Amino acid sequence: MRHHSSKPCSPTPCAAVAAPLAPGDSAPPQPTSCFPALHAPDRVRALPGSRADFCRLLGLTVDGDIGGTLLAGIDDRTLQPLALLMPHLLCGEESATIAFSRFRDDATDGEHGGHGSNDFGTDFGTDLGRNFTRDFTRDGEAAARASRVWSAIAADECFHEYMLTHLVQALAADTLPSAAHNRRAASLFFLRLKSRDALTHFARICALDCFVSRILAALQQRHSRLHRHLPLMAMLSKIRIDESRHVSLTRRYLIEQQLPANRLQSERRWVAERFQAFLSPYLGAYEELGVDPDALLKCLH
Ligand SMILES: [Fe+2]
Ligand SMILES: [Fe+2]
Repeated sequence: MRHHSSKPCSPTPCAAVAAPLAPGDSAPPQPTSCFPALHAPDRVRALPGSRADFCRLLGLTVDGDIGGTLLAGIDDRTLQPLALLMPHLLCGEESATIAFSRFRDDATDGEHGGHGSNDFGTDFGTDLGRNFTRDFTRDGEAAARASRVWSAIAADECFHEYMLTHLVQALAADTLPSAAHNRRAASLFFLRLKSRDALTHFARICALDCFVSRILAALQQRHSRLHRHLPLMAMLSKIRIDESRHVSLTRRYLIEQQLPANRLQSERRWVAERFQAFLSPYLGAYEELGVDPDALLKCLH
């Protein structure tokens, strides 16, 4: 395996303001579980506001060719690994959209003094919902704060999912022979991250967001084959910056909730081990994109 001499990727600072869904967007469908069900059909959604935001990000008019713009000038050697890897990111965004929509709804419920009308779905269990409801019912101010944070993150995740859906469709990644296996592997990975303990669950999401932002940073480095493709870079950059901000917000929330630092670290290690194992069959694809696999693994710790 040929290794490039890239440095380990470093955490990225959080800076930009998220692009919220524009007024008039249709609301995302109500989630039925905290992670996407296996074999879930593609959740391709029409969010007119998201389209406007996405076109603006790509420098297009609202009726522009998003897929064509994203892939303009990308050669076959780059398209293949991209088609293999991008569905993982999409799967992660689907999970995140569902999860944060639920957290937002539950916090909003607590903010208004609700008593657990949340429905966390059968495959997630109800303990997490009970935890939230108990905490938020006790502390309406905390619920209001959490509601604001989770709403902002849910809007980001929804937009990420929207953008990646376009990319995966443009890549025709869903039609590849490996697509079903690829998607199943990613779904299982995300399902296994869940915890019935709310703070543990958030700590794992926090770690995962951090790792994803590092992978995106690696894909954007100068030696990456994607580096020259500005529309694609703009999209990945937007997601990376948002994810970095999510890490800060979630970490702050966990500290406020007095999750001990060593628990944060142990959950991070727990996620890192599993994420590294999940990624190992795909390191060759990252290498084809110009990302040093060793450096990639090193930054996931
Ligand atoms: Fe995201
Ligand atoms: Fe996120």
